[in-house]
Amino acid sequence: MFTQALLTLSLASVVFSQSGPYGQCGGQAWTGPTICQPGWLCTPFNARYSQCLPASSTVLMSPTGTDSIKAAAPTDPPSTKVGRLPALGWNSWNAYRCDINEAKVIAAANQFVSLGLQAAGYQYINIDDCWSNKARDATTKRIVPDPTKFPNGISGLAAEVHALGLKIGIYSDAGTATCAGYPGSLGFESVDAMTWNEWGIDYLKYDNCNVPGNWSDSSTPPGGDWYNSNSAIRYRQMTAALVAQPQPIQYSICIWGNAHVWDWGGRVGHSWRMSGDSSPTWSYITSIINTNLAHLASIQFGAHNDMDMMEIGNGALTIQEQRTHFAAWVFLKSPILLGTDMSKLTAAQLAIIKNTELLGFHQDIAVGTPAAPFKAYSTAPTTSPPEYYSGTSSKGTHVFIINTSANTTTKHFTLSSVPGLGTSGNFRLHDMWTGTDISGTYEATSSFSVSVAAHDTAAYRITKV
Ligand SMILES: *[C@@H]1O[C@H](CO)[C@@H](O)[C@H](O)[C@H]1NC(C)=O
Ligand SMILES: *[C@@H]1O[C@H](CO)[C@@H](O)[C@H](O)[C@H]1NC(C)=O
Ligand SMILES: *[C@@H]1O[C@H](CO)[C@@H](O)[C@H](O)[C@H]1NC(C)=O
Repeated sequence: MFTQALLTLSLASVVFSQSGPYGQCGGQAWTGPTICQPGWLCTPFNARYSQCLPASSTVLMSPTGTDSIKAAAPTDPPSTKVGRLPALGWNSWNAYRCDINEAKVIAAANQFVSLGLQAAGYQYINIDDCWSNKARDATTKRIVPDPTKFPNGISGLAAEVHALGLKIGIYSDAGTATCAGYPGSLGFESVDAMTWNEWGIDYLKYDNCNVPGNWSDSSTPPGGDWYNSNSAIRYRQMTAALVAQPQPIQYSICIWGNAHVWDWGGRVGHSWRMSGDSSPTWSYITSIINTNLAHLASIQFGAHNDMDMMEIGNGALTIQEQRTHFAAWVFLKSPILLGTDMSKLTAAQLAIIKNTELLGFHQDIAVGTPAAPFKAYSTAPTTSPPEYYSGTSSKGTHVFIINTSANTTTKHFTLSSVPGLGTSGNFRLHDMWTGTDISGTYEATSSFSVSVAAHDTAAYRITKV
């Protein structure tokens, strides 16, 4: 009896002297346990508060200065289990900005199914900014979903989206607050990644607002490698937190083309924004094509220049401009995240975004490289952006022709000018938009002509006969 009582007592004291998962374990006025259960690490947030976080996390939670950050900054690569191909999905921002809620996100998921977008390969339903309360939970430090906008929490929403066979994305920021002023994840990478994993999150868009001055970059980092810039380290800390989770989370770096992200984005995440926010304008489309063309070498499986979310359905783009918008995101292998209220899409717009052959080029499992400009004939003019692109897929060689001028024009190219086709033999052309073969065959030395409407893009697959 006596022995057993002692044993019970000592077990109880062991339990009480350890803080549980996410429990407080330190801080100026703290008199409770200062060690955590096995597998959990007491991690200081500030002088007043320390919390038990999983020991598996390698994230630096309490940086003490630039030098120690650089020395200790995690170098984990992004997960190879997700993000091999550019993402296909939807994001709430362009359609709804901050005015989001569970009903709108569920509606988008249901539209993926009813409009045949899921069958076409679209997968991600991504929530953008403004989904949480303005303050973290005072005790756990977790971000709290806004209970009015998301009455079932993000976990309840995630379960509904998953039940449709789709994936769900969340949004945060590599600063102290998001662009709209909600909690940012800088310094909270581990607890946030863990929370999202528990909710079933599959994708993170990580923005770049409200960065403390000492976490930004005023000049080239020592050694010249922007992977070691303060900006990159903010994103690397989140990579480490994400890969420490049991389920893979696709990682979209939203750094607006800053800090030479194309040089290190593939070592840190699966895609990275090349510019500020998109707009439904022809000038945005042409300028982001030019921006991306300067960094095509960064694009490969698992690593994609992000030209930002789609504007099909928004603004006053002509249907030809919407075709070029979609085609360019396809042939430069950008993530394609629809950004509109999909219930308003017309049949013509749906035909564009569901085009099987263009999506096939974008999602090719065997070829990860984008198309690139080529000189279509010896006297072809130079335009900005270029008008002729060629690339390869598992199905053959492809040519995309943008008419960058404001009038319908006949465009032409010599087949032997297309990289990879060679200088002999006969070829068949196939129109990727209509899914039909062009009649007849073409010799390598011959020229193919087509009338292209203003700001439209023609798309062909070429195979040797
Ligand atoms: C920026 O300052 C904060 C607060 O002093 C500090 O914790 C952090 O380590 C600093 N960041 C860098 C990159 O030096
Ligand atoms: C259509 O696109 C290219 C852009 O220069 C242009 O050279 C061609 O001439 C365009 N159409 C018109 C008007 O010329
Ligand atoms: C387009 O064609 C119209 C009518 O032919 C002409 O007036 C105009 O200058 C042309 N615009 C361009 C950009 O070539």
